[in-house]
Amino acid sequence: MSAGRPLPKAELHVHIEGTLEPELVFAMAARNGLPPPAPDVATLRQRYSFTSLQSFLDLYYANMTVLRTELDFTDLADAYLARAGNDGVRHAEIFFDPQPHLERGVPMSVVMDGLWSSLGSSAERFGITTSLIMCIVRDRPVADAMRTLELALGYRERIVGIGLDSAEVGYPPSQFAEVFAAARAAGLHCVAHAGEEGPPGYVWQALDLLGVERVDHGVRCTEDVSLVARLVADQVPLTVCPMSNVKLGVFASLRDHVLPEMLDAGLLVTVNSDDPAYFGGYVEDNFAAIERELEVSEVDLKRLAENSFRAAFLADDQRNAYLAAGSLNP
Ligand code: HPA
Ligand code: ZN
Repeated sequence: MSAGRPLPKAELHVHIEGTLEPELVFAMAARNGLPPPAPDVATLRQRYSFTSLQSFLDLYYANMTVLRTELDFTDLADAYLARAGNDGVRHAEIFFDPQPHLERGVPMSVVMDGLWSSLGSSAERFGITTSLIMCIVRDRPVADAMRTLELALGYRERIVGIGLDSAEVGYPPSQFAEVFAAARAAGLHCVAHAGEEGPPGYVWQALDLLGVERVDHGVRCTEDVSLVARLVADQVPLTVCPMSNVKLGVFASLRDHVLPEMLDAGLLVTVNSDDPAYFGGYVEDNFAAIERELEVSEVDLKRLAENSFRAAFLADDQRNAYLAAGSLNP
């Protein structure tokens, strides 16, 4: 590791359900009286080999069925925060997916109160400020998305934004324009996964039809020069997740990743972990991997860390305090 690492950073693209380590899956299954998902942890881990986004999502949704009680959600978030602190994370904007939880009978109050028991005191206990972004699962009906937003707005003060995740191809952002309009009207920030497996046209839709302020992934923007020009002109942040992209086959290897091209183009890129329990590493592992495999320079690593605070949904005084504390400002 280089001097001064891990750099202070914000994590802007992490799914709390994607931080569920296999050991925790077993522990929660046992305490909730559920059958173990595999004979042992090693056997479960052997299934962590993916060929596409969908092949990952199948396991991701299966494993999260062990989350039943407030304590499960609290323990999950605490486990993430404990690891994130070691990675230099000072601020985290954390996705959660209520729909699969609601569908198996876990009320929104259990999800929200469980997460809040952890995140509500994250600054005091872990030195990490946090906020929540509720994701719409896009391969479920739009009416379900709207109902979920209405339920979430009962907890408006605990949620900073709305996102869009799950299977991308065949589920264009345009379907969710009304849901995002309602979220915007309630004062929520808007982000969406787009251009991960889906085409650049989905990124255009996310910008123009959903009004997103950040694009999650967005790596396929490099296929469309006018889209890159738009993203650069507006300095729309892109939350890139290098290890995720390789594990899900978006790029054959890290050496094939377009991150250097994106930096050269002047895009506002951040580096994130996505679903660290599944993709082989947390956010600092992603920083280390791009330094090692893509030879990203020390200057650019600092730029990426600084971008994470610039792209965060923080008040300007808090943003400036983070930048100053990290000595990341010139
Ligand atoms: N992409 C889309 N949906 C997701 C992901 C992802 O990487 N992780 C959890 N839900
Ligand atoms: Zn994601």
